Amino acid sequence: MTQDRTTPDAAAAAEQDRREEELLARVLRSFDGCADPRLKELMRALVRHLHAFLREVRLTEDEWWKAIGFLTRTGHTTDDRRQEFVLLSDTLGASMQTITINNRAYRDATEATVFGPFFVDGAPRVELGGDIGGGAPGEPCWVEGTVRDASGAPIPDARIDVWEADADGFYDVQYDDGRTAGRAHLFTGPDGEYRFWAVTPTPYPIPDDGPVGAMLAAVGRSPMRASHLHFKVTAAGHRTLVTHIFVRGDDLLDADSVFGVRESLVKDFERMPAGTPTPDGRAVGGTWSRTRFDIVLAPAGA
Ligand code: BEZ
Ligand code: FE
Repeated sequence: MTQDRTTPDAAAAAEQDRREEELLARVLRSFDGCADPRLKELMRALVRHLHAFLREVRLTEDEWWKAIGFLTRTGHTTDDRRQEFVLLSDTLGASMQTITINNRAYRDATEATVFGPFFVDGAPRVELGGDIGGGAPGEPCWVEGTVRDASGAPIPDARIDVWEADADGFYDVQYDDGRTAGRAHLFTGPDGEYRFWAVTPTPYPIPDDGPVGAMLAAVGRSPMRASHLHFKVTAAGHRTLVTHIFVRGDDLLDADSVFGVRESLVKDFERMPAGTPTPDGRAVGGTWSRTRFDIVLAPAGA
């Protein structure tokens, strides 16, 4: 005679599992009629991963309400000047992962990194060797390099947009007088070369007075970004590059709050004592720094 060895506990666990699986299957089937195949793929994968998360962590109803409250506050903090959802995506590494997926490695093309919220369309133009600082407080920094394609050919007339925080950690859009500082655009010369004066990048916090800042504090993470200078490089026939350069030796390179640092983007910023002659003869009247950033653009569609 065979004996049924299933204990009441095991039977209940199996029934629990069956109910959770059945619910998931029902939700997945709800997308069967979706006419857009990509939307269907996205929604089905989202639901599969979401349910896997809920079941893995055995989410409590109290935690579910806390999550709803957090997302509600994130929405209320967002307006046309502040995008708290993007900040959430940035601090969870989702922005950087999306950028990594969509800027595929191509020979030695320069790596992309996060765009951030402080780019402004229509920043003023400076000539080669001009000053993008526009009076922003900070130590002068000479930046030079070339823009080339992956075969090494120089790209003349590439548009380079540059923007950065000042020495106090503020972008001009955070000033209350509306002036433009720490941003400009310029074009590469006939040999793909470029050069400009900026201010030496310094660390600053991402906006941390909202729900994302509260999340970072709750998990013991810092809101600080590693010191950096933003670049957007555009040239016909080439993939637009949005990136930054970082300062070698910065303590925050391994702790950047938005995971934007790539080793290939960490550059030497040479510190120059007061009185050292500058490359263009400009009198800076104190210490200054200099760096070099040679940019390689992938072909469009790479
Ligand atoms: C920034 O570098 O400007 C930035 C990037 C992501 C979030 C906040 C700021
Ligand atoms: Fe920035």
